[in-house]
Amino acid sequence: MSHTHPGPTGHSGDLPDLAGLRREAARLVDGRTYRHGNPFALWRRMRRAAPVLWHEPGDFPGFWSLTRHDEIKEVLRNVDAFSSSSGILLRPLSQGEDPGGNRTLALSDPPRHHVLRSAVAGWFAPRNLRLLRSALDASAQRIVEAAVRKGRFDFVTEVAAQLPVEVVCAFLGIPDEDRPLIIEWSTDAFCAATAEDRSLAHLEILDYFGDLVERRRADPGEDLVSAVAGVRYEGEPLPLDELVLNCDNLLVGGTENVRIAMSGGMLALLDHPDQWELLRRDFDGLVESAIDEILRWTSSATHIVRRATRDVELAGERIRRGDLVVCWLTAGNRDPAHFPDPDRFDIRRSPNRHLALGAGPHYCVGTQLARLEIRAVLREFFTRVDRAVPDGPAERLESIVVNGLRTLPIRLASAYDVPAGTGPGTGRERLR
Ligand code: HEM
Repeated sequence: MSHTHPGPTGHSGDLPDLAGLRREAARLVDGRTYRHGNPFALWRRMRRAAPVLWHEPGDFPGFWSLTRHDEIKEVLRNVDAFSSSSGILLRPLSQGEDPGGNRTLALSDPPRHHVLRSAVAGWFAPRNLRLLRSALDASAQRIVEAAVRKGRFDFVTEVAAQLPVEVVCAFLGIPDEDRPLIIEWSTDAFCAATAEDRSLAHLEILDYFGDLVERRRADPGEDLVSAVAGVRYEGEPLPLDELVLNCDNLLVGGTENVRIAMSGGMLALLDHPDQWELLRRDFDGLVESAIDEILRWTSSATHIVRRATRDVELAGERIRRGDLVVCWLTAGNRDPAHFPDPDRFDIRRSPNRHLALGAGPHYCVGTQLARLEIRAVLREFFTRVDRAVPDGPAERLESIVVNGLRTLPIRLASAYDVPAGTGPGTGRERLR
């Protein structure tokens, strides 16, 4: 598509500060920016001066940046005017089209989206989650207990990365004997030090799902892979590579964001001892609003992309058919028009209509599962730990897709409880 974008409607050219802002906004597509935290100050200025800002093409295609809650929500809800089918993440031009385009649940538009979503949604319904709950709680207890026993540990790899993979393996019906492998590959796929090791681990996962889907197609079980393997669209079964991509998306979607939200939530609580204390004193009363604030605060999915299917006006700008629109969820979640004092971490915040899980028909299908997992880990942690402190600097990921922690070393700073019968001695120990 070749057209030029003249700048804000009503201006003959860029205002000088807008040109500067646009240059600065180029940082948003550089993963290194997020290693040092989110660019909240830049997003604040964009929200004020140009909430719908055009970025010229470069390494990435040209796109519009959205930083306000209102426009982001409008775009995510309007699936007729804003399509997901060519991809939902910004990709450098050199990487070409997203191979999942028009094939996976997240990268489909209606009516195909509706068919795929209906096939998996039941698995995430409260009735099914209730069946899973005791196994999930037991896993959370074992994982947290093992870490707490050590006294100092990396919360990301030893706690937050563990539970989501175990839970998703159970959901997908991955046989017990294969789980250690999947856990190892998915930890490497996200946390390995080099890009090569990360992508090798990812290829192992795709290969594994290729085999598993074949087996489930031949002999379906009571699991999510079998449900996905049985999907028919317009009377035809989905091709194997589409099934594999869908399983992979469930594994990735179900593990990466939960890991980041959980560990970012822990860091926020460590950084805000008053909020830690509030939650410790009234866990049951505050945990639900605390989870929402953790989701808003961590906002692990940094952005979501849509492509306009027709000309649309947004905040006075004319978005043309074919244009890419980037919703910076992390920015929308700090919009003062929706969140008073947005840079304050407040576990009692209400209302808290954050966008961390998206909005509209593609709203995260794993929402309730994610909440269960975060709640279980917090509960186990708060049952055992009175106080914890950072044990060295936390490292952040270098990515424009997800933002959050790669490591979070922590140390227990005072007494913790070991439930009677599960710990050594009397059940109450003091760590130094
Ligand atoms: C804190 C944890 C999570 C966060 C922050 C998160 C975030 C999101 C967001 C922002 C979307 C919307 C994407 C879009 O509009 O294009 C989404 C969709 C999705 N999420 Fe999550 N997610 C989380 C947990 C999970 C879990 C636990 C699972 C499954 C096990 C999951 C599976 C999915 C799937 C399959 C979609 C696509 C839904 C569709 O297109 O209809 N997510 N998630």
